[in-house]
Amino acid sequence: MSVHLEAAPGSIAPIVLLPGDPLRAEFIAQRYLQDAVCHNRVRNALGFTGTYQGTRVSVQSTGMGMPSCAIYVQELLAQYGARMLIRIGTCGAIRAELRTRDLVLAQAASTNSAMFDATFGGATFAAAASYDLLSRAHRLATERGAPTHVGTVLTSDRFYPDETTLSTWWNPWAEHGVLAAEMETAALYTLAARRNARSLSILTVSDNLVTGEQTTSEERQTGFGDMALLALDVAVGATHTR
Ligand code: HPA
Repeated sequence: MSVHLEAAPGSIAPIVLLPGDPLRAEFIAQRYLQDAVCHNRVRNALGFTGTYQGTRVSVQSTGMGMPSCAIYVQELLAQYGARMLIRIGTCGAIRAELRTRDLVLAQAASTNSAMFDATFGGATFAAAASYDLLSRAHRLATERGAPTHVGTVLTSDRFYPDETTLSTWWNPWAEHGVLAAEMETAALYTLAARRNARSLSILTVSDNLVTGEQTTSEERQTGFGDMALLALDVAVGATHTR
């Protein structure tokens, strides 16, 4: 038991998939895991543990944004011995050439958050994915024919920008090659790095802020299933490589 997770010690696997939405955690457990058991209901942050192709895997919802995500990631790492954390979520593309439903593999995450300012004395930390997970995800996604982009993301504290900067706030980021905005990855990569655990964010483009293109909820659900399967295949393949 930790502050926000009621799971018994040892009942969460070293591999954990991290969707934001609790119902998506339940969907993965029901659809893709064998013998899945619910290990957490505290705050409705649903979490499940089962097996995928014979390997124990957990899926734990994190809520939205870095503060919520960091609580679960920290407790999974420090109290439950998580060694591989793969976020599966959505992002808003900030470059016109990205299409909705494309995959973004977050190589590294910049952030506009002050969350880790004190940790690094105000300097910036390059929050980066684990290369073996990133390269494996890229290879598998490409083999499956999924349009896939590898690049940097912006982990933002805000989903809704100020009205005055509505159509321009992303320009400095896009001009530095950043592909998309989301709200969790920088915390995941920073906390995983601190404990020498592996981490990756696999994201589906749910909307394009430049072109205004948006996915339907049906497209989001199908895209989510494909992304969950990719994350599971990356995880179980990678367990044997380190
Ligand atoms: N901003 C932040 N997070 C997101 C977005 C966005 O536009 N779209 C999906 N997740």
